[in-house]
Amino acid sequence: MATRGRAVKPEHADSHAGERRTARVLVVHGPNLNLLGEREPEVYGSTRLKEIDRELKRLGRELSIAVETFQSNGEGAIVDRIQRARGKTDALIINPGGYTHTSIAIRDAVIALGVPVIETHLSNVYRREPMRHHSTIADVASGRIMGFGADSYYLALRAARGLIDAARRRSA
Ligand code: DQA
Repeated sequence: MATRGRAVKPEHADSHAGERRTARVLVVHGPNLNLLGEREPEVYGSTRLKEIDRELKRLGRELSIAVETFQSNGEGAIVDRIQRARGKTDALIINPGGYTHTSIAIRDAVIALGVPVIETHLSNVYRREPMRHHSTIADVASGRIMGFGADSYYLALRAARGLIDAARRRSA
């Protein structure tokens, strides 16, 4: 019967079942990133945050990832959002904006979250002022992607899929 046939998984489907199970990824954008497209387009590009978020959700569907996005100009609000994600996300993509270089509170929240973290920047901070070369989360992130404009986020989402798959294989 057709229904019964569909219910039986082919052998090979099981071998990769863990890899394509839906994953959850939270994307956090820090201060001033709400101005993307208007703010220093020569540094940050002309893509608006709304377009980046829309593309992240579309790409998420392609990669079987439920993507949630959040932007705030406030350090406390960012800490609160990361705390709310505890137990509810499989990875975090975060561009802390200017807080990258100063925030111990965001670093502490990232550590407490306990999932793979990808630090993401539109610009290559090492081609800019020395004050931007330090990051409070660099050593607690799984990896850092920067310098590709809006593409940095899309690369980060692909990297998140790989990290989540690897973690699931380890715990299987
Ligand atoms: C940024 C780099 C930071 O130094 C800066 O303060 C930002 C954006 C980036 O995405 O390139 O706001 O995080």
